[in-house]
Amino acid sequence: MKKLQNKIAIITGGAQGIGAGIVSRFAHEGAIVIIWDLQTEKAKTLASTLKASGSKCEVMEGVDITSLASVENAAKIVFEKYGQIDIIVNNAGIVRDASFLKMTEDQWNQVINVNLTGVFNCTKAITPYMVQNQYGRILNISSISGVYGNFGQTNYIAAKAAVAAMVKGWGRELGKYNITANAVAPGPIDTEMLATVPDDIRDQMKMRVPVKRLGKPEDIAVAALFFCSEEASFVTGQTLVVDGGNMLGG
Ligand SMILES: NC(=O)c1ccc[n+]([C@@H]2O[C@H](COP(=O)([O-])OP(=O)(O)OC[C@H]3O[C@@H](n4cnc5c(N)ncnc54)[C@H](O)[C@@H]3O)[C@@H](O)[C@H]2O)c1
Repeated sequence: MKKLQNKIAIITGGAQGIGAGIVSRFAHEGAIVIIWDLQTEKAKTLASTLKASGSKCEVMEGVDITSLASVENAAKIVFEKYGQIDIIVNNAGIVRDASFLKMTEDQWNQVINVNLTGVFNCTKAITPYMVQNQYGRILNISSISGVYGNFGQTNYIAAKAAVAAMVKGWGRELGKYNITANAVAPGPIDTEMLATVPDDIRDQMKMRVPVKRLGKPEDIAVAALFFCSEEASFVTGQTLVVDGGNMLGG
């Protein structure tokens, strides 16, 4: 039995990396997956591959999660078409790293706009439809940086800690509507976000992970699947660290 049969799942940042891993897993589990990502062509290529193997995946063009009007419009279109929005995975994110002394206002604002305000916008746009249908699964992709801190990431740490904290509020507020809200905090995952890290630093990172490898998008997708399944209806307000074993926690 597929775990997400006929669920309507919106995944932000689903064109590549962790988001693409979640899109693929959810589609294989029977969900109708809708990708919101600025990289339209990449998202379409993924959707075509999935459709060729019998899964259901759509791409909505030009949905910018930093614009509440953009995501409200997109959510309305999805609800009018399907009459339900069951799952939102707030995955889209960016990094603009710099040590605190060198971090610019622009670097701060860019990361806060995508990684924090984007999560607010998407959840704000979709939750009324979940309330209407008395069912919903909200999942925020946080980071171990938001849990343990990290050098050069004041902006990112602030946003990632915030999106993990927000689910504690949503868990309390939305439980009565049969809506859960949780977060996954990945450790280092081998995606394009990590591609700029020099090889020697990547090797050091691997050695510090107890399971001695970087994570894969599939490692996060399996945790996402758990939180977004119907079966996890008694789990809300939680953040699960998925990092191969407490890498930065000492
Ligand atoms: N890779 C890691 O090691 C790691 C670790 C912890 C947490 N994370 C988090 O996981 C999530 C996914 O990371 P990833 O490594 O797959 O990143 P990635 O850079 O490979 O993919 C992010 C996707 O988000 C999209 N995106 C960016 N801004 C957007 C916007 N305004 N509107 C819509 N889409 C937008 C991008 O186009 C891209 O496809 C991010 O939130 C990231 O912070 C990643």
